[in-house]
Amino acid sequence: MVQLALPRNSRVEPGKRHPAPAGARRPREFKIYRYDPESGANPRLDTFTVDLADCGPMVLDALIKIKTEVDSTLTFRRSCREGICGSCSMNIDGRNTLACTKAIEDIQGPVTIYPLPHMQVIKDLVVDLEPFWRQYESIEPWLQTKTPEPAKERRQSPEDRARLDGLYECILCACCSTSCPSYWWNGDRYLGPAVLLQAYRWLADSRDEAKAERLAALDDNFKLYRCHTIFNCANTCPKGLNPAKAIAEIKKLIVEQTL
Ligand code: SF4
Ligand code: SF4
Ligand code: FES
Repeated sequence: MVQLALPRNSRVEPGKRHPAPAGARRPREFKIYRYDPESGANPRLDTFTVDLADCGPMVLDALIKIKTEVDSTLTFRRSCREGICGSCSMNIDGRNTLACTKAIEDIQGPVTIYPLPHMQVIKDLVVDLEPFWRQYESIEPWLQTKTPEPAKERRQSPEDRARLDGLYECILCACCSTSCPSYWWNGDRYLGPAVLLQAYRWLADSRDEAKAERLAALDDNFKLYRCHTIFNCANTCPKGLNPAKAIAEIKKLIVEQTL
């Protein structure tokens, strides 16, 4: 039988323990993945005990508190704190989600925090999203038109506008793509659920006039057809979107074109 094991330098080792502050009333452990490529050391799991009586309610509040009060080297992305920018995506309690909208109280026991899975780690909880953004760029995510520009604006009926619901809300946090087994194994060629949902967002836009070109570009064994409808993407999306359905709609449009 094939024996699979992590390379020695990838094994996560026990890290430092930071005790609760004196007089803590509601201590709670946060186990956080740490990795500094410049140190040459293996990744480690540090434990910080935070007093929830003196902390905001979300996981991001705890991370900011730890960085501010205990270890300023803890590295993570965040910006809006409102579930809008998509920066604070990470794996919390075994699931990809946004740290700013994940309530600490929804988690039982120690809060485990890892970077998004199957991505190159730059430092601690920050992963390299360059390949993801290049894939996003490849679908040309902007309105493309051929007809002459109208005097005022390209109008859309309320019904056509409603077809973008469930698509426009995507904040490109990459939680779905990094939870997709097909993307883990073929991420260099499979576009993944986030980028494909975005591709469908433009296909579904009544004002866009590049549908044939968009479908031709997507009709590829690897770019599109690696989705095996496992639905990890829909289960994890912190915005409640369904990328698997969008992918199925793209496949349907490609078939319809040939009829
Ligand atoms: S579909 Fe959901 S999980 Fe995927 S990138 Fe968009 S918001 Fe994030
Ligand atoms: S449904 Fe498709 S895109 Fe979503 S997780 Fe499964 S294989 Fe990936
Ligand atoms: S900080 Fe913007 S989505 Fe979490």
